[in-house]
Order: sequence, then C-alpha cells, then structure tokens
Amino acid sequence: MLVTGASSGIGAAVSVLLASRGCRVVGSGRRAEGLTVAPDGSLEAAVVADLTEPGSAAGVVEKAVATLGGLDVVVSCAGAGWEGAFTTMPPAEIDNLLDINLRAPLHLAHAAAPHLLASGGQLVLVGSIAGLVGVPKEVAYGTAKAGLRGLADGLRIEWSSQGNPSASSSARPTVTLVSPGAVATPFFSRRNRPYSHSWPHPMPVTKVARRIVRAIDRRQEDVVVPAWLGLAVRLNGGLPGLYRALATFPWHIQRLPSG
Ligand SMILES: NC(=O)c1ccc[n+]([C@@H]2O[C@H](COP(=O)([O-])OP(=O)(O)OC[C@H]3O[C@@H](n4cnc5c(N)ncnc54)[C@H](OP(=O)(O)O)[C@@H]3O)[C@@H](O)[C@H]2O)c1
Repeated sequence: MLVTGASSGIGAAVSVLLASRGCRVVGSGRRAEGLTVAPDGSLEAAVVADLTEPGSAAGVVEKAVATLGGLDVVVSCAGAGWEGAFTTMPPAEIDNLLDINLRAPLHLAHAAAPHLLASGGQLVLVGSIAGLVGVPKEVAYGTAKAGLRGLADGLRIEWSSQGNPSASSSARPTVTLVSPGAVATPFFSRRNRPYSHSWPHPMPVTKVARRIVRAIDRRQEDVVVPAWLGLAVRLNGGLPGLYRALATFPWHIQRLPSG
C-alpha cells in the first residue's frame, strides 16, 4: 500500500493502522523526519518528495512499486488548506492549493492506475466536506477538493469496463472518496489561519483513520465523516436553494466543519 501525506495527521494515522494489521506500507511526505520506517516506525519504506513538483507523483509510485512489487491500495492523503475571503487570496495560494489538492492526486492516480488495474486494487482519495458543499472562506480549497469528485466518478465508470476482464466485478479497482469534516491534525496550524469555530470541535484523527481503513476493508465508494455531515451533502444536492439559504444564516450550516 502507498500512502501520501504519511508524515502527519490523517495519513500518518492511516499508515500506523494499516501496518498494525500487517499491511506493507510505503509512506511519502516532504519531511523525512515525519516518515518513520520499521523497526522504529510503521513504514516499510519512505519516499521524500514534494508532490507539487512535476513528475514527482510518478516518481513516488515508481519507488513504492520497486519496494512492494506492485500496489493493492493507494491512499492519496497529502493536502493543505488556506482560509479567508476569496478576494483577499494571493494568486500564488490559489496555485498552491490546486497543485497539492488536485493536480498531485490526479497525477498520482494516473501513475498508479496500471498497477491498480493489474491488482484489482483500490484508490482512496482524501477529499473534504468543502469539496461536496460550498464552504465560505474555503472557496479555492473546496474547488480543488471538488475536482476529486470528478476524478472518482470518471474513474469508476472507466474502470468498471477496463479492469481485469477475467476478474469478477468485485476484483475491479475501487475508487473511494473520503470527505471528512474538521479533524484535529496539524492541518490548521500549518495553513494561514487556525481553526476558529467554537462548534463543532475537530474530530479525533483516529476516528477518520479507522473510517478510511473500514472503507478499504469494505471497498466502500463514498464516505463522509462524521456521517451526519452527509445530510448537508444530500440537502445541497437535492435542494441547493434551501441549502444556500441555511448556509447564509449566521448560526446554521455556514458553521459546518471544514478542512
Ligand atoms: N484536518 C482536517 O480538518 C481535514 C478535513 C478534511 C480533509 N482534510 C484533508 O486530509 C488530508 C490530510 O490532512 P491532515 O489533516 O492530515 O493535514 P496535515 O497533518 O497537515 O498533513 C498533511 C500531509 O500532506 C503532506 N503534504 C502537504 N503538502 C505536500 C506537498 N507539496 N508534497 C508532498 N506532501 C505534502 C504533508 O507532508 P509534510 O508533513 O512532509 O509537509 C503531510 O504529510 C489533506 O488532503 C486535507 O485536505 C483534512
């Protein structure tokens, strides 16, 4: 298994959980010190790379395949945020957010695709609730994460007919989109502004990691964590006008956890 963003937060927690179940995990991140290899840590190997660099995602996949001999699961978790009014956002930050939250996962999926098609494996994209419903002050971040929805939907259809033709449908690659609300990780201290909402409190990272591992076990396609946030997604999809009215009401849905 390959996990990007394994040096911190959700990716680190997922890596530890997978390794504790006997999975062989190659982790990637920018900081070597966050990637601990066995016997001191949970990773079989670490790949230090900035995924926004051209060719980097393909290089990470290549190194993971060289270590593991193939790929059963790829968890695309590396990401970053920025909060503030859209009009005040420096243009370079727009590029940064699109690069790490959308362009990098797209290239990672592209490089991993032949291996996942060969193994009938699973691609797990870590999106955000901000990619499924509009979240004020996270417009560029939400736009990038919304792109993962398109990636997941398109690949599901493309791979449903392209997977190993001799395999049963359950052996074809699964594409999972995990969309969390606010999670207690260094994410918020690393972006330009810390988390400032009094409610809801960011959920423990272990809750999201366990949910991701369950989605891998069960080959689930769409996971919103916590589950109740799925109501907002359904409302936004079915009655967007009503959702928007509620979202502009000061103490209602605009306080939805983001990240
Ligand atoms: N925390 C939340 O509230 C929340 C909510 C919804 C979705 N998410 C999503 O969950 C994912 C993980 O976030 P987190 O909360 O675990 O944040 P985090 O603790 O800040 O971890 C982010 C990870 O992404 C890696 N990363 C960032 N930029 C990178 C780059 N240019 N190249 C390679 N790796 C890079 C970091 O590597 P280094 O440490 O080596 O820099 C780190 O491993 C992200 O996609 C985020 O958008 C988070």
